[in-house]
Amino acid sequence: MPGHPSMLLLTLRVLMLYHYQSHGTFYNPNTVGRNGEVYCHGRLLETVQMARIFNDSKTFVDMKMKQNPDATLKLFDDFMEKYEQGSTPPKEDVLKWVEDNFEARGTEFEQWIPDDFTKSPAILNKIKDKDFRNFAEELNGIWLELGRKMKKDVADNPELYSIIHVENPVIVPGGRFLEFYYWDSYWIIRGLLLSEMTNTAQGMLKNFFSIVDRFGFIPNGGRIYYSMRSQPPLLTPMVKTFVDTTGNKQFAISSVDILAREFDYWMTNHTVMVKGHRMAIYGDQSSGPRPESYREDIETGKDFKTEQERENHSSELKAAAESGMDFSSRWFINENGTNEGDLTNLKTRSIVPVELNAILYWNAKIISEFYGYKGDTLKQVLYLKYSEEFLKGVEAVLWNEEAGIWLDYDMINNKSRNYFVATNLSPLWMRCYLPARRQLIANHVIKYIEEQKLDDYPGGVPTTMLQSGEQWDWPNVWAPFQHLLIVGLDNLDDDRTKAVAQEWAQRWVQGNHIAFIETGAMFEKYLATELGGHGGGGEYEVQKGFGWSNGVILDLLDRYGSTITAASGKVGKLSVYTGLAAIITTMLSSVRWFL
Ligand SMILES: *[C@@H]1O[C@H](CO)[C@@H](O)[C@H](O)[C@H]1NC(C)=O
Ligand SMILES: *[C@@H]1O[C@H](CO)[C@@H](O)[C@H](O)[C@H]1NC(C)=O
Ligand SMILES: *[C@@H]1O[C@H](CO)[C@@H](O)[C@H](O)[C@H]1NC(C)=O
Ligand SMILES: *[C@@H]1O[C@H](CO)[C@@H](O)[C@H](O)[C@H]1NC(C)=O
Ligand SMILES: *[C@@H]1O[C@H](CO)[C@@H](O)[C@H](O)[C@H]1NC(C)=O
Repeated sequence: MPGHPSMLLLTLRVLMLYHYQSHGTFYNPNTVGRNGEVYCHGRLLETVQMARIFNDSKTFVDMKMKQNPDATLKLFDDFMEKYEQGSTPPKEDVLKWVEDNFEARGTEFEQWIPDDFTKSPAILNKIKDKDFRNFAEELNGIWLELGRKMKKDVADNPELYSIIHVENPVIVPGGRFLEFYYWDSYWIIRGLLLSEMTNTAQGMLKNFFSIVDRFGFIPNGGRIYYSMRSQPPLLTPMVKTFVDTTGNKQFAISSVDILAREFDYWMTNHTVMVKGHRMAIYGDQSSGPRPESYREDIETGKDFKTEQERENHSSELKAAAESGMDFSSRWFINENGTNEGDLTNLKTRSIVPVELNAILYWNAKIISEFYGYKGDTLKQVLYLKYSEEFLKGVEAVLWNEEAGIWLDYDMINNKSRNYFVATNLSPLWMRCYLPARRQLIANHVIKYIEEQKLDDYPGGVPTTMLQSGEQWDWPNVWAPFQHLLIVGLDNLDDDRTKAVAQEWAQRWVQGNHIAFIETGAMFEKYLATELGGHGGGGEYEVQKGFGWSNGVILDLLDRYGSTITAASGKVGKLSVYTGLAAIITTMLSSVRWFL
């Protein structure tokens, strides 16, 4: 009965609207406007996402509205009146309605050439191998493709967009990821600083400060549908990198209060008591499926019988997304307490993760240092104390003497999770251990690398050893983890771990280089089983770009560019051989350099 809704239909519709609006929180009305009713939850979002009009569910929630949210919602109600109550409109009709009322994704950006871009940053001179030098030069040039500047209209009419307005242009990961991502930015900013794009890096940091000011923390990415969860908190380490690179201590002093505010958010909203220690876990504050993966979340949750179970499932998915490792067997706990299973076994909120606690240790330590620059002794001492408390927690809850390494802790079964995850070694990255234990830890780590055969993979250290089909599992290898492993092993200041670090750096740069030569692209993830192979699996297509992969290569070339080469590198046979290989590599590359 188009155009003539009966009283009954009207009542039903009101009830339905009530259903969508009544329970739970979908976004924070203090930080998100009426656009949350379109992009974060409700009948419009559900109808469009379930119709599967685009291959990638993220496409729709990134499209700009042609009219304001209330007008759009009204137009949608009018559209739905053409169909029987309870029936779903045909896919073609939904697609047409969306095309009539939304703009294609990506219209919020304008052309931008960073004013601090330079074709030949000094890092190039440090790289002795000609092929690697060319590689670095190409990667430096890719920043131009990954830059995004918002049009003024986003600031003037934020309600028409899902994107969160920020003042300064950003470098994004690439592919489907058109907006800033929180933890990605750590490796992107390291790369930018090596490319001497200091203004761009500083602009991104200032964006983050304004975001903490507005939201109280940093969302997963720069869209309102990410605004109820964060990602591994690396803003403070980003600022530390910036301050160390530029020598600009004033920047540390002027930003320390905002960094402390973000740290306090993690302390108050993300911690639980475990064995008498305050430990951090991942979580999410919103109800319902992830708007950007709405259909996927409904599908994986379809076998749960009760609303509460489905809601729990959504929370676990979003908590895993907050970890940045979406998804991984790392977050599965099945009925037997092991890591086999699928997304219905996600128990992210019941797992104490190694890297998160080590990162918070790092945050507190840096914040203490910055308060020292400011001359605020009270806060300098306070944050040092926080860092010591995290260190104690990491030792008591996460260090596992039997395994000889740090392990995630399962709060359901009250036991360590003795599975390999690259993050098991993450405390090495920020030196989250007592200095007196360094040598002991180096011995344990060497043993662990041998036991787990971490040195046997031609394409890099796998994320886990379990092949679940999820993208943060075997055989995928991710740049940020290769970076933290290499830096962590180097930090141990032990000849053996230093040799492994160098070998892994050689392998990683060489593999990325091979893939780049073959395809002309940098990838979001690579393959452990093949030097130069790139990864797959998970819930979306393989992405190219790619911000953090590029940043990591530049960082490794900055550290090892005088020794590693495009032609060498081998696999396996730790210790003696690795040391020998490193020496030979060094000699060969010096020879090459002098010829
Ligand atoms: C969507 O995916 C299908 C199957 O993978 C593919 O054939 C099609 O070209 C894709 N459509 C678009 C618009 O990318
Ligand atoms: C942190 O948790 C408190 C209390 O649970 C809540 O009121 C507040 O909104 C949360 N903060 C943020 C930024 O989500
Ligand atoms: C939902 O999750 C909470 C927290 O993990 C748990 O205590 C509760 O039993 C779960 N409820 C159901 C119905 O699964
Ligand atoms: C749990 O253990 C039982 C008994 O060994 C087995 O039959 C079952 O398949 C296991 N469940 C999972 C999810 O591994
Ligand atoms: C784990 O410890 C908690 C808190 O001490 C306790 O409530 C729970 O029953 C324990 N669970 C198991 C499986 O032992």
